[in-house]
Amino acid sequence: MTCHHDVLHANYVAALNRGGLTPEAYEYNLGGNVLHSLLWPTLSPVGGGRPVGELARMVDRDFGDLTHLRNTMIGAALACQGSGWALLSSHGGRLIVEVAHNHGTRAQWGRALLPLDVWEHAYYLDRGPNRRAWCEAFFDRLVDWRVVGARASMRRG
Ligand SMILES: [Fe+2]
Repeated sequence: MTCHHDVLHANYVAALNRGGLTPEAYEYNLGGNVLHSLLWPTLSPVGGGRPVGELARMVDRDFGDLTHLRNTMIGAALACQGSGWALLSSHGGRLIVEVAHNHGTRAQWGRALLPLDVWEHAYYLDRGPNRRAWCEAFFDRLVDWRVVGARASMRRG
C-alpha cells in the first residue's frame, strides 16, 4: 500500500507536472491521478461496516442490499480483464457499478463515488495473484462508508 501510494501514484503526478505528454499519455496520467485521489480517502484502517443514512437507502433501493452491491462490485472487479477499476458511481441519481479499463474515461471519473483499484500493483505485493482476496478485504475491512456517503450527498446537491 505504501509503495502503491508513494511510488505509483506519485509517478502519475510527476508525469503531469513534467508536461510534454501526448494527449493519450496526458489522459492516462490524469486518470491515474484522479482515481487514486478518489481512492485514498475512502480507505480506513478501521473501515468496513455498512453505509448509513441516505447512502444506505440508495444502496437498498438500487441493489437490494449491501451484500448484493458487494457481490456485484467484486464480480465486476474479477471480470475486468487486465488492468482497471471497478467503480461504484452515481449516474442519473442512481447508484451503478461499472468497470473502467486502465484508467477509464473522464465521464467515469466524474461519477465515481468509490473506486476499487484492481491493477495488479494494488494487491500483488500483499496477496500475490489473489485479486478476490484484495476485493473482499477492501469491502470487509477498508472502505470508509462515511466518505462515500458524503460524496453521494454532494452529487445530489
Ligand atoms: Fe493503483
